[in-house]
Amino acid sequence: MSKITFDKPGNFLYPLPAVMVSCTDKEGHNNIITIAWTGTVCSDPAMVYISVRKERHSYPMIKETGEFVINLPSEDLTYALDKAGCTTGKKIDKFKELGLTPAKSNIVDCVSIAEAPVCLECKVTQVLELGSHDMFLAEVVSVSVDEKYLDEKGVFHMDRCNLVAYEHGAYRKMADTIGTFGYSVRKK
Ligand SMILES: Cc1cc2nc3c(=O)[nH]c(=O)nc-3n(C[C@H](O)[C@H](O)[C@H](O)COP(=O)(O)O)c2cc1C
Repeated sequence: MSKITFDKPGNFLYPLPAVMVSCTDKEGHNNIITIAWTGTVCSDPAMVYISVRKERHSYPMIKETGEFVINLPSEDLTYALDKAGCTTGKKIDKFKELGLTPAKSNIVDCVSIAEAPVCLECKVTQVLELGSHDMFLAEVVSVSVDEKYLDEKGVFHMDRCNLVAYEHGAYRKMADTIGTFGYSVRKK
């Protein structure tokens, strides 16, 4: 294999999730921001991060309340996912424009997106100023999933949610399963 090296190193860590983060300010205004710089950082306590530029309308909402919800988009929410990332809450009410429903969350005061199949309620524990983006490290305090993806035994099937992946500017469908955790060492 022969590789070329880019002159300027950049963010080439793909695929990753692109998510719709909902937030509510202290006056009760709701907003949605699309975030691709997000990920899991710890299992116990369950912790995630989102990285947000200071100039985003959502930035002070999350900074001041210390709360946000990560809403995982299903394929049918791809248009809304993109539009929430190309428009600002400074000018429009994104819930209204995108036809999405603000739903009361379990623990946090900010709203979740009712149409999203999976919602992770988060409380910020640290804000790291990194450069272009500030990283909000947060604990996941509640997880809700659409009950239609539970089977008769109550087992949640995430593969049935048709979640969206983000790869270098493109929204992509999840592909076929090509292995499962531990399959390489499992006894046949
Ligand atoms: C796919 C995608 C991923 C994005 N990821 C981020 C991100 O990780 N951090 C960020 O600050 N902005 C990100 N953006 C840009 C914001 O979503 C965009 O500036 C949005 O208009 C901000 O909304 P707001 O001003 O209402 O907060 C992304 C946009 C798209 C379309």
